[in-house]
Order: sequence, then C-alpha cells, then structure tokens
Amino acid sequence: MPKTKAYGQVVQSQKYEIADPRPSALIESLRSVGYKLSTAIADIVDNSIAADARNIWIRFKWAGAKSLISIIDDGRGMTESALVEAMRPGSISPIVERSQTDLGRFGLGLKTASFSQCRRLTVISRSKGCRAVTRVWDLDYVVRHDEWRLLRSGDELEEGVASFAKTETGTAVIWTHLDRIITQGENANDASAHNRFNDSIDQVRQHLAVIYHRFIEAGEVRIFINNNLVNGWNPYLENHKATYRAPDEIIPFGKSKIYFRGYVLPHKDMLTHEQYESAAGPLGWTAHQGFYVYRNRRLLVPGDWLGLGSPKPWIKAEHYNLARICLDISNDADNEWHLDVKKSMARPPALVKERLTELAENIRKRARSVFAHRGKYGARISPISEYERPWEAKTRQGYRIYKINRGHPAVSQAIQAAGTAAPDIESMLRILEETVPVQQIWLDIADQTQDVARPFIGTDYSVIRSDLRKIYIFLTKSGIDRNTALARLKAMEPYNHYTNLINEL
Ligand SMILES: Nc1ncnc2c1ncn2[C@@H]1O[C@H](COP(=O)(O)OP(=O)(O)OP(=O)(O)O)[C@@H](O)[C@H]1O
Ligand SMILES: [Mg+2]
Repeated sequence: MPKTKAYGQVVQSQKYEIADPRPSALIESLRSVGYKLSTAIADIVDNSIAADARNIWIRFKWAGAKSLISIIDDGRGMTESALVEAMRPGSISPIVERSQTDLGRFGLGLKTASFSQCRRLTVISRSKGCRAVTRVWDLDYVVRHDEWRLLRSGDELEEGVASFAKTETGTAVIWTHLDRIITQGENANDASAHNRFNDSIDQVRQHLAVIYHRFIEAGEVRIFINNNLVNGWNPYLENHKATYRAPDEIIPFGKSKIYFRGYVLPHKDMLTHEQYESAAGPLGWTAHQGFYVYRNRRLLVPGDWLGLGSPKPWIKAEHYNLARICLDISNDADNEWHLDVKKSMARPPALVKERLTELAENIRKRARSVFAHRGKYGARISPISEYERPWEAKTRQGYRIYKINRGHPAVSQAIQAAGTAAPDIESMLRILEETVPVQQIWLDIADQTQDVARPFIGTDYSVIRSDLRKIYIFLTKSGIDRNTALARLKAMEPYNHYTNLINEL
C-alpha cells in the first residue's frame, strides 16, 4: 500500500507515481493569474463581505520598498485551525455547494490575489471568544526551503492588532514586499513612484465603487480607503425621469433563475454636465454599455455584450452607449457561467443565449433610437403617441438613405404655400436628401472633437417663435383644435425642445 509522504520522497507503487507540485515553482506561478491591483483587492473584499463584515478599512501606506497595503474587516474572523485551512492554496473545492451569500468559489482567491501583488502575505484574525491568530506566507521562505512552510508569526502584527482594538472580531490581510507595485530600489523619497502609488489608490477606489455599489447603496457595507468612505457608483440613473426601464424578465435556468432588467439612459441633452460625467463611469460611456452581470449582488462584469449577438457578436459602439442591462445570477450556476478565479468574467450558458439576445436586442434598439433622436425620444411617449420627425431613415436598393418627411407640418406647410413653385421645392428637397454628409457627420461624432449642437442653439427666440406661429396657424387652419395643435407641436422635432415657447402661443 502506498503511504502519504513528505514532498520529494519516492513512493513505491506499480500503478502510479506521486507527482506533487514543486512548491518553489507553483507558488511563483500562482502569481501570474492576471490580476490587477484593483481586482486583487476586490477578491480580498469578497472574503470580508462573505464573512458578514459591516466595515472594511483599506490602507495604503507609502514607505518606498517598505510600503504596505492592508485590508481589515470586522467580519466573523477565523479560529486558528480555520485560518490555517484558509491559507492553504485550494482550501475548498470549487464543486462544494456554497451558501447563497458566499462570494467565493475556488478556495484560491486570498492566496492568488495576494501573491499577484506581494511576496509576503500576513493574515491576522480573531473570531468570537478567541485571541487573535496569525499566519504568514513568505514567498522567499517557501522558495528557499521548497516546502509549503506557513509561518506562525510575522513582523506586521502591529498593523493588524492595533486595528482589532476597535472590533471584537475580524480579519486583517496585510501585503508587504509589494514587488509588483513598487520596483526594486525605489525609496520613500522617490516622488514619481509615490505618485504612481497614489494613482493606483484612485483606480482601486473607482473599481470598488462600481463592483460593490449594491452593498454600499443598501448600507450593508462601508468601505474606507485611507479613512475616506467609498461611495457607490450606480450605472442606471434610476431616479432620472427620462431613464427608460424595461419590465423585469425572469429566465428560468436549471435550479436557479436569471433576472433581466434593461435600462436605456437619457440622451445627453436631458442631463446636466455633472450627471453626464458621473454616469459615464470610470471607464467612459462606451466601455460601460452592455450587460452588468451580478453574482449574489457582487458585480462581475461592468458592461459587456458577453459574446452575444447574431449573426456576428455585438461589439461596443457609440450608438449603443445608453444601453445598460442588469443581469442577476446566483452562485449555483458558476460552472455554466464559466466564472473565472478573478471573478472578472462570465459567459452565458448556451441554453439562455437566445433569450438573452432577444431581450437585449430590444434594449439596444431603443438605446439606438434615443441616441440618434435626442432628448425625449423613446423615453416618454407624447399624448399624440409618435414624435413627428423631419428626417426619416429608409432603405433603397439595399442602401441606407435619409429622406425629408413630407408629412412634417413645417414641410407640408411650405409646399402648400409655394403653390405653383411646389415642384421647385421638391427638387430642392431631393438635392438635400441625395447629399446628406453622412461620412462627415460620422467622422465628427467619432472624433468627439466637438459636441453636436442642440437644435436652434444660438438662434434668437423671435425666429423660433415666428416659425412656431406659422406651423400653429397652418395646423389650426386645417381644422385641428388649439389643444391638439399645441400637443402636436410639443411632439414635433425640433420644437419639442421648446415647450415654453409653445405654451406662449
Ligand atoms: N476576511 C475573512 N474573514 C473570514 N474568513 C475568511 C476571510 N478571508 C478568507 N476567509 C476564509 O478563507 C477561505 C479561503 O478564502 P479564499 O479567498 O482563498 O477562497 P474562497 O473565498 O473560498 O474562494 P475564491 O477562490 O473563489 O475566493 C474562505 O472560504 C473563508 O472561509
Ligand atoms: Mg475568496
């Protein structure tokens, strides 16, 4: 019978050989899972939230090569044996069923996230009724001895223990020897290294604001970075009256359900400068369009089309900027959603792709129409039920063309008034339609060097008033009563932006 054995010892068996991972090699490889500082910190914060922490204090302490990052929580903490188990790479198998509030899956995050940023990980934890216990992974020590030697104490005790004076239970994760953030030889007086360190604090703050916004908004968790509270970033502008929210959809999937909620955000014209800038999010409008996938309310993907789309997968394009779709999944379908160790990716299971594509297509269409038609389009339907637009997009011999709507009252009034000169107006409209500078407009918008003006910007109100009056008279002469005529004007592009002037008629 083969026996368990220490690393390096040969086991005699005809049937197999034991090929243990070599600690010195594996521990270095675990560093390369591909975390950024912000995703690594989020993996530690996940553990704190899963341990019912109400407060999480993140500290960035700059001291050149001796700099330190600590993440301290007031969660339930760990006993000594639980801490040793937690420090083991692969502490719980991914196939073990987890509680509904557990944000973990692989039994790896604490280790892989930490090793991706530092060479020394100290964890100090105190559970109810117990004294604080400490364990340390020191990569250099493991490599030197080529054994998984977990140290029982570390030099970073001070940081962790001082923090527990405030709380009865909790856990401190302390990263030192930050070789991925601070290059060797950089000292505390190196201003450019210090600036880089500070920039990374900002990125972490923005990332956490996005990833945990549901917990922060609900007041369940407070996250502090160097004693400053992190505010959540909500992607949906839910309280804005011009935001469109599609009816909720529930897609059954195996034992669980997927909750789909589509939003079309208001056109830029409907937002103040501050609202527009803040809703853009840390990565900007285009990067933040698409699906927001939440697993147990923790955001995995802050805007992505998830490889959906037919016949070709959708890519991010400016005219879908206003589409944001909230998708809630639970942790019992992690495998089917292809969850990765970093919790930064999810791909929908094949079975639900078609339905998701169908639902998202509706949101995309609406978002495109609001984006293209400014202001109130699509967001609130007028009493007349349809907006009257001067331009219409049509297809001729398979090509996209733009026609002037002859039924638009401003146009039909002019044609009628022209009498025998109506054919001249017709040929002028044709010229305009055949030479719409689409390429130029496309380039201007893509370059974003200048914003496109709102209708009538810089035009004297007296001009708009006189135009409005002409159309009003035309409508009422054709037998439409005053109130209907005013309502129609309010639903008529571009006058829909000038309801105050219409009310004065
Ligand atoms: N701050 C903490 N408070 C209490 N327990 C913790 C804390 N951090 C980690 N643990 C315990 O350590 C275990 C291992 O954490 P680790 O992040 O390595 O894996 P995981 O969270 O189980 O899965 P994943 O790899 O998906 O993150 C956790 O399951 C939890 O029991
Ligand atoms: Mg974890």
